[in-house]
Amino acid sequence: MTKPTRTVPLGQPTVGREELDAVAAVLDSGWLSGAGPTCVAFEEEFAAATGTRHALTTSNCGSALHLALQVLGAGPGDEVIVSDYTFPATSHSVAWTGATPIFADVHEDTGNINVEAAASLVGPRTVGIIAVDLVGQPADFDQLRALADKAGIWLVEDAACSAGATYHGRPAGSIGADLAAFSFHGRKGITAGEGGALVGDDEELMSRARRLHTYGIAPALSREGSVDLAIPEFAELGYNYRLSEVQAAIMRVQLGRLDSLVAARTHAAEFYNRELAGIEGISLPVVAPRRTPAWQSYLIDVHAPVDRNQLAGNLRMLGVGCNFGTYASHLQPIYESKQDCPVSRSLFGRHLAIPMHANLTDEDLEYVVASVRSAVTSSTI
Ligand SMILES: Cc1ncc(COP(=O)(O)O)c(C=O)c1O
Repeated sequence: MTKPTRTVPLGQPTVGREELDAVAAVLDSGWLSGAGPTCVAFEEEFAAATGTRHALTTSNCGSALHLALQVLGAGPGDEVIVSDYTFPATSHSVAWTGATPIFADVHEDTGNINVEAAASLVGPRTVGIIAVDLVGQPADFDQLRALADKAGIWLVEDAACSAGATYHGRPAGSIGADLAAFSFHGRKGITAGEGGALVGDDEELMSRARRLHTYGIAPALSREGSVDLAIPEFAELGYNYRLSEVQAAIMRVQLGRLDSLVAARTHAAEFYNRELAGIEGISLPVVAPRRTPAWQSYLIDVHAPVDRNQLAGNLRMLGVGCNFGTYASHLQPIYESKQDCPVSRSLFGRHLAIPMHANLTDEDLEYVVASVRSAVTSSTI
């Protein structure tokens, strides 16, 4: 095998001197653990960025989803409708509460939850819906909100990938759900390696989530500077779902970069949209009206006469990072699902993610486009 002339990774964080300086300042401060002043400062900034009243930093998006479901009251005997085509943290968070995830199929074009499919699954045990913004494109939240209100159930936005996305001009996180959960994992648009946040307007839900994320008591910061020997009491079973101050410091810098990072990803997406259009055997992502995606990933839809496995192998040999899209959750062995989600199953077999991050240069993009063109030809059967 000849060495590729260039390698273009599938994903890459954008971090540098500013993040290092912010970490150094936290190290100097002596407060490294979670729920400290840097977390609180980031929470204020993140609430403002997402157009919500409250934000709570968490160890990851899975823990933010779990907290959301706990405070909304999901538990054994309940059913929660979830979008099927997603990283299964969405359905795992339901299972963690003892409730049962009910998988709803998705739209062929966007991969987002099909609201009619979700409506058909509402039954006497349904307590809520979790809609996922697939790879950072907001789902149909107007219709989802109407469905939730009609059925008298709650609505959660799995916004893991969508920091910086908008729906009707409003930022992801404040587009109709009762609570929304974000991820700051290394593959996301803004990142501290790991991390997450829960956002929402409801003071009571959010303060209960805050207690639960620190073992069921108020964070130590609330007792800082007190002359009384305040001894907290444990009245409910909480967790350690805190983000550390080191991560929060990185996130403050990353949030400051959010607009430019989303702009760089959008530039890459527009480049691909233009240069990969019309190639037989691959279709390009569809953006539904009145929304702007955060472009966490760029998923091409690979179909006959092109073989996805061969295409992936050929791209990797050319030094171009790629991977499958995401999961059809109902097919995972842990879920003995009664639902069939044929569209999700089909997308699981067809999508291929190609390089998408904010460090891609036009030369990288040209190389990816040329590689896709030649790899498609050699993967046509
Ligand atoms: C849609 C979705 N939800 C939840 C998660 C879980 O995020 P985290 O790894 O921060 O727990 C992911 C991670 O990829 C995701 O894509």
